[in-house]
Amino acid sequence: MTPQIIRKAVFPAAGLGTRFLPATKAMPKEMLCLVDKPLIQYGVEEAVAAGCNEIIIITGRGKSTMEDHFDGSPELEANLAAKNKTALLEIARSVSKLARVTYTRQAEPLGLGHAVLMAKEIVGDEPFAVLLPDDIVDATVPCMKQMVEAFYETQSSILASEVIEGAAISAYGVLDCVPHPKNPRLLDVKNMVEKPKFEDAPSKNAIIGRYILTPRIFEMIETITPGAGGELQLTDAIKALLKYEKVYGFHYEGKRHDAGDKLGFLKATVEFALKRDDLGPPFRDWLKSFPM
Ligand code: G1P
Repeated sequence: MTPQIIRKAVFPAAGLGTRFLPATKAMPKEMLCLVDKPLIQYGVEEAVAAGCNEIIIITGRGKSTMEDHFDGSPELEANLAAKNKTALLEIARSVSKLARVTYTRQAEPLGLGHAVLMAKEIVGDEPFAVLLPDDIVDATVPCMKQMVEAFYETQSSILASEVIEGAAISAYGVLDCVPHPKNPRLLDVKNMVEKPKFEDAPSKNAIIGRYILTPRIFEMIETITPGAGGELQLTDAIKALLKYEKVYGFHYEGKRHDAGDKLGFLKATVEFALKRDDLGPPFRDWLKSFPM
């Protein structure tokens, strides 16, 4: 069989973002910025760096600023060109040139599995990436690129995983798995459970928001019934996939920030600002002098 490649990346982005109210009352949470870049753009840049040239964003009501963001902006560009602000012009232009972005809607909030199912026709019969925009992974080699490279070896579904200590594990999908005999980054997945109680968690290996999935996942989503929180869970569909195909966990190199959580968002903002050449040095000086 010819090895398959990953060309398409799906971004579920239809959620209401209630954890960030009132900021998200009229603005999509995916457009919240770490320093000066929206969360969704970090994810799209990561997917593009992994070789995905077709981006599929699952949106909902009130999310149109995301479409404007990845579109051309003739008035802004003309204004910057007239003022000879070439560096800013390049920033504005490059966003709309990142990739081909298509949008499809999830009319009802029926869960992450249901959101991914909305991409079925656009993805078609090929393996694809899924990136949850809330999870930002800061890594030398972009997380999805690492996963795509692992996929070339396995040709099977791969779920990014992080070890989570203590009761916090119950906020995640959790893998029941054993280490892969040859590749120390891979885990052989036997089973998985969405948001287990701490005492029921099969391991400390949480699923984080980066997946490579084979197209059979769509069939699986169509067979599952509502699970945790009464929603159609992607984890339950991947568990169903295990009956037919191998699935791997993947310990990526890098640091994940949970930007869907206020404290996680603040920490990510500070770390990203400190890393910047322009803002890092003055921000560090200011932090040092800040009365704690
Ligand atoms: C989703 C998935 C969960 C995964 C998590 C990673 O949960 O359902 O399996 O562990 O993303 O961020 P959510 O955070 O949307 O509740």
